[in-house]
Amino acid sequence: MGRKKLYIETYGCQMNVSDTEVIFAIMARHGYDRTDDISAADIILANTCSIRDNAEQRIHGRIEQFAKEKKQRPGVIVGIVGCMAERLKEALLDSGKVDIVAGPDSYRNLPNLVEAVRPGHPQIDVMLSHEETYADISPVRTDKNGVSAFVSIMRGCNNVCSYCVVPYTRGAERSRDSRTIVREVCELHAAGYKEVTLLGQNVDSYLYKSEETGTVDFADLLAMVADVSPELRIRFSTSHPKDISDKLIETMASRSNICRCIHLPVQSGSDRMLEKMRRRYSREWYLGRVAKIRKEMPDCAITTDIIAGFCSETEQDHKDTLSIMEEVRYDYAYMFQYSERPGTLAARNYPDDVPPEVKTRRLNEIIELQNRLGLESNKRDVGKTFTVLVEGPSKRSADELCGRASNNKMCVFPDKEHKAGDYVDVEVLSCTSATLICKLV
Ligand code: SAH
Ligand code: SF4
Ligand code: F3S
Repeated sequence: MGRKKLYIETYGCQMNVSDTEVIFAIMARHGYDRTDDISAADIILANTCSIRDNAEQRIHGRIEQFAKEKKQRPGVIVGIVGCMAERLKEALLDSGKVDIVAGPDSYRNLPNLVEAVRPGHPQIDVMLSHEETYADISPVRTDKNGVSAFVSIMRGCNNVCSYCVVPYTRGAERSRDSRTIVREVCELHAAGYKEVTLLGQNVDSYLYKSEETGTVDFADLLAMVADVSPELRIRFSTSHPKDISDKLIETMASRSNICRCIHLPVQSGSDRMLEKMRRRYSREWYLGRVAKIRKEMPDCAITTDIIAGFCSETEQDHKDTLSIMEEVRYDYAYMFQYSERPGTLAARNYPDDVPPEVKTRRLNEIIELQNRLGLESNKRDVGKTFTVLVEGPSKRSADELCGRASNNKMCVFPDKEHKAGDYVDVEVLSCTSATLICKLV
């Protein structure tokens, strides 16, 4: 039997990017090769995100597009997988345009679902699991240049931040066997990869126990992974401010190949909002963690996520967010308007009562402030020397390369000799709000 073609569109966070690589691996064993050409695909999947309403609206639009593809080539199978599949379940089948609905823990079952699909008989599996980590599966890498890869170290989330849909779409937290993680990182290193990003919704609560490994926490795991090779850079995401430990910060500081960047989502600078969001830390605690990071690693970038206009947010709460941003001087931020998600604690208990125009105005103020903070952060780097991991030619010019410094900032510099995967030292000459303009040293 000839092999068939699988096309996957990936939405949402890095966990989904990593899951898509797992799906390709599972399907490859059953005769499906990856294609980037939708018009050549026997199966079209969307790996979806539910985090905000607009993320879901986009997918409904894509389902219409996929239906057109199906009309031209009857027999094509369309599937919705990932977080939106888990959240909406059977409801996704109502349109009659979807053949498969599979949640984040049912990917091993995808080949069976595909096998069972018949016209008018869609297939669904949205069982969540307490154990599944896809630990034994070697992902089919989808990165562009063989330099940087994601490694999933845990799944699910046990926090119940009141605004957040993730615990419902990805289920309970579970940590992957540390030995399989280290093995995967060794394989990546042997294959020439230079950077791995360890992924989880709350990496600081990683905990794996077995007779052979003993108890491995995230700081232990990070050390083990960093010790695979000094040539390999390690990044991780996401840290939760309530759980980021001194041990972790000190482990980072002790190894120069653990990159100097911590993503530490604050969400709000107001204690009243943090309480209502169920983040389980205060502004003071958060600033204490930032102080510890800066003490151990003065050169460490700190980035964040911020939500504007959460339930009952007042002008003063909003000002508290602006002031914590100034205080921390974030190097980078992802900024969002609050979007009510059905079924969450907030949706059940608090009215979504900040008017849309107020949310938009507050978000714009947050973005404007971050633009200034980001530029100031980049200006502080002018004159410094960084080691950059080359990613490839810059967007602007074929005579320039680009790559990231340890602090995750994008550097561009004229260079025709090096290639993706090389480490080069550069001096920062000037900057924009998005890029450090450098020269080779
Ligand atoms: N596990 C990570 C976050 C994952 S979701 C953490 O705890 O930090 C990524 C970001 O999306 C969150 O940090 C939050 O800023 C944002 N987000 C989550 N739910 C949202 C909602 N209902 N409306 C707007 N933004 C939301
Ligand atoms: Fe969502 Fe909170 Fe879990 Fe992050 S820690 S995924 S925001 S519930
Ligand atoms: Fe979205 Fe699911 Fe990630 S909701 S942000 S794809 S965990």
